[in-house]
Amino acid sequence: MNETQILEKTKAHVKALLKDETTGHDWWHTCRVWKNAVNIARAENNVDLFVLQLAALLHDVGDWKFARGDEESGPAQIKEWLQTQHVNTDVIEKVIEIISTIAFKGPAKRSVVKTNEAKILQDADRLDALGAIGIARAFASGQKFGQVLHEPSIKPRLKADPEEYKKQYTGEMKNTTVNHFYEKLLLLKDQMNTKRGRQIAEKKHQFMENYLKEFFNEWDD
Ligand code: ADP
Ligand code: NI
Repeated sequence: MNETQILEKTKAHVKALLKDETTGHDWWHTCRVWKNAVNIARAENNVDLFVLQLAALLHDVGDWKFARGDEESGPAQIKEWLQTQHVNTDVIEKVIEIISTIAFKGPAKRSVVKTNEAKILQDADRLDALGAIGIARAFASGQKFGQVLHEPSIKPRLKADPEEYKKQYTGEMKNTTVNHFYEKLLLLKDQMNTKRGRQIAEKKHQFMENYLKEFFNEWDD
């Protein structure tokens, strides 16, 4: 099989796995991330497009946040799929490494992404967490984590370290979805890796600021 065929098969595989996902980590999220990643890559040098596209297509397969903190299942599922497609071990390792480094680790820690492919994929994934679609995804995800929309007595934990931040996904701690904007979404525009990513993030960020202003206006009415 050539690279195009492997990518096509991977697309069909991920589509089947994620098409009915209800928290905004569905196939269309993956599809947007994949297209955005390829677009951003056009303006960057030294990018392995095969590795980037495989990582983009597979990045949300077996996400630990939806497996109550199980961080092993995702990489294992991704590895197994790529092995059945006879992808080189070297490429498989790169794809898994990229996916494992792009996740948000909490407001107090900036994740370290080393390769160009990881920088681009992290930006593309994060862009889909912003703006109108980002807002819809946040509330859909919040439902899955058992969060209320907003609870004024629960304050955002802006200093949460990765260990503390993770507790909202393991059931050890309850958060609210409005807090998620302050603990993550509004911080992303200043953490973009690429110029193109920063430009797109700026506009989506402004939209979220306006949205929150209106949210609190209605809340206080
Ligand atoms: P990452 O790899 O950066 O963790 P994902 O692609 O897995 O990003 O998706 C993250 C998106 O899931 C967030 O941007 C948000 O829309 C949603 N999400 C994650 N955690 C929460 C939360 N605690 N409350 C609401 N939405 C959340
Ligand atoms: Ni994603």
